[in-house]
Amino acid sequence: MQRVVITRYGGPEVLEVRDAPDPSPMRGEVRIAVAAAGLNFADVSARVGLYPDAPKPPMTVGYEVSGTVDAVGGGVDDFEVGDKVVALTRFGGQSSSVVVPQHQVVHLPDGLDLVHAAAIPVNYLTAYLMLVRLGNVRNGESVLIHAAAGGVGFAALQICKQLGAVTYGTASAAKHERLRAEGLDHPIDYRNQDFAAEVTRLTKGRGVDVILDAVGGNTSRKNYRLLRPLGRLFLFGASSASQDPKRNLLKAASAIAQFPVFHPLPLMNANKGVFGVNLGHLWDEKQLMNEALTELLAWWADGRIEPVIDSTFPFSQAGKAHDQLQQARNVGKVLLIP
Ligand SMILES: NC(=O)c1ccc[n+]([C@@H]2O[C@H](COP(=O)([O-])OP(=O)(O)OC[C@H]3O[C@@H](n4cnc5c(N)ncnc54)[C@H](OP(=O)(O)O)[C@@H]3O)[C@@H](O)[C@H]2O)c1
Repeated sequence: MQRVVITRYGGPEVLEVRDAPDPSPMRGEVRIAVAAAGLNFADVSARVGLYPDAPKPPMTVGYEVSGTVDAVGGGVDDFEVGDKVVALTRFGGQSSSVVVPQHQVVHLPDGLDLVHAAAIPVNYLTAYLMLVRLGNVRNGESVLIHAAAGGVGFAALQICKQLGAVTYGTASAAKHERLRAEGLDHPIDYRNQDFAAEVTRLTKGRGVDVILDAVGGNTSRKNYRLLRPLGRLFLFGASSASQDPKRNLLKAASAIAQFPVFHPLPLMNANKGVFGVNLGHLWDEKQLMNEALTELLAWWADGRIEPVIDSTFPFSQAGKAHDQLQQARNVGKVLLIP
């Protein structure tokens, strides 16, 4: 089998495709011939050495795949060779063959595109946990989605539309038309406008009910102030800390230092909630993750959501795929194809 290896911390040139022996499934495991592997911003952060959860180089990252089961270990009753599936992978997904515990694997409903299926797990689970499970977004509530044209952004937008929310989203101006077509009510060009002033203007000073913030730093500070009473702020990333193509610890530390600190008394008095979400720390919540992923695939089968694919790159062009995310050129999900 082949895999994309981060050989050392650095720019996209540190990525190499390397051969490795085919893995064998043990008891309770499923082997998948990978059709596509999702690329996430976390993988870019891991490459530059700013993702503490990732293994040390040389390593293969990747949290999600789609593909076809080609071997099963003992004790696996729900899957057989030939099944089309989607799976969460605890690193190592950017490989042509992966072995995964069966609870991390879900059947792909008939009629759905096997390659595009790799765009569902990370982005949609993250958005779903925030908006549905924790945020309990109600019809008519207002949601501000940062990085609205990214992978999580489109997933969040589609789920907000399902829930009947009014949506505000930050993105480069060139991406606004696509976002409007996807149903975003109020695109905001955060690069040329102060997004907080714009949200205040658009909401006539009322602010918003829910904010999805993976930018971090000073942006989080402004977000907290934009919340209405009973508003919920979701902190789930720090992309402001990983914008340099190489490892820049000073810049990263400066972005992290600008995160606000929340004291309980002002939180109580303002009736505001602040939540942290990290999908990569939910591996023990097997049933929750399996059921949520199954539900999201059913939503896709029903036409309620539809993954937006920016581009697909063969493993040999993984560096270009990383660039696409890091240079913020993507509109939707970037996938790697073995
Ligand atoms: N905690 C979790 O479980 C979890 C799970 C998944 C993702 N995440 C986080 O969510 C974020 C998005 O991930 P993704 O995979 O969806 O990334 P993505 O598809 O690469 O989206 C990134 C987009 O964000 C926009 N952006 C960059 N800096 C921004 C800023 N300062 N303000 C607003 N928008 C900005 C850029 O588009 P523009 O051209 O519009 O600037 C860029 O294309 C990342 O920080 C990632 O680490 C967290």
